[in-house]
Amino acid sequence: MYNDKIQELMNEISGIFDSVNNKQELENLKTEYLGKNGKITLLNQLIREIPAEEKKEFGMKVNEIRTKFNDEYSKVASMIEEKEINEKLNSEAIDVSLPGTKIPVGTAHPIERIIESLETLLMSMGYDVVEGPEVEKDLYNFELLNLPKGHPARDAQDTFYIKGEEWLLRSQTSPVQARCMLEHEGKDPIRIICPGKTYRRDEDDATHSHQFTQMEGLLVDKGITLGDLKGTFEEIAKMLFGKSRETRFRPSFYPFTEPSVEMDISCFNCNSKGCHICKGTGWITVGGAGMVNPIVLKNCGYDPEKWNGFAFGFGIERLAMLKYGINDIRTFYINHDIRTLEQFDRREY
Ligand code: DAH
Repeated sequence: MYNDKIQELMNEISGIFDSVNNKQELENLKTEYLGKNGKITLLNQLIREIPAEEKKEFGMKVNEIRTKFNDEYSKVASMIEEKEINEKLNSEAIDVSLPGTKIPVGTAHPIERIIESLETLLMSMGYDVVEGPEVEKDLYNFELLNLPKGHPARDAQDTFYIKGEEWLLRSQTSPVQARCMLEHEGKDPIRIICPGKTYRRDEDDATHSHQFTQMEGLLVDKGITLGDLKGTFEEIAKMLFGKSRETRFRPSFYPFTEPSVEMDISCFNCNSKGCHICKGTGWITVGGAGMVNPIVLKNCGYDPEKWNGFAFGFGIERLAMLKYGINDIRTFYINHDIRTLEQFDRREY
């Protein structure tokens, strides 16, 4: 009788896993056979009623069924697991032929690019980068730089005054020269550059803006010559506009330098043959400079008998317009088309 039951169950479990498709069905079967009231569990409990001499054999048979069930169970369980992993892999597969997500990358503004390249070069020549205030005193912007009140050269820098005549928006970065010399109290050699914003009461047009950017340079030491200035300018010109650029000085006038010069480079567009960029002259003016006027040295606490030096000033927008072929200064400030900036890829610094 027990043998019949055992045989029945043995027959029942062979093949029951064939129709199992997922984990849930598999677990249901486990409960059905091995759970608290499972068929194999209940069969095992019959052992109590079995005569002693048959117990051993009965126990072995039930174990056989359980082992068979468990073996089948593990086999099917790992098959189902594998199947599920494969399904997951297939549904999550990456299509490498699809275009990737575009990650927007910023680019440096052309003004910033010119400033950074000048800073890199001049720092390698021992210059420090310093800053000065944009709201400045007339004293630093003009007076100490040998531009006393009523001086005709003030006319060239139509200025925004703030409440009276003492404070103004600096019309040039040159006041930083005075601040720096005063800070050093006539004692140390100085080598500084100062990039920054400057302001003039100009009507905005293609080449003028009420706010623009300059970079000042000042070197004070002993026994400095115009040749040192020329050499420095030559390095700057070649770095910005290419190794084959030639440079020249033209006489000029600035109250804070004596002598004063205009700094020209040979035209990079036509190689000095004459074109619309150099207006047929073969040369392009890129900045002003000169030997620091002894009056300025004295005003700022340096003994002109012992010290001398040179100063220079560049209009950064002008350099950027020349270098990148931009023909309207307002392009730098208006934000209407991001492509203006996007064309300046960081990599071609
Ligand atoms: N500050 C002058 C200007 O805005 C530019 C300049 C010329 C600066 C000669 C200098 C210099 O330091 O020596 O027009």
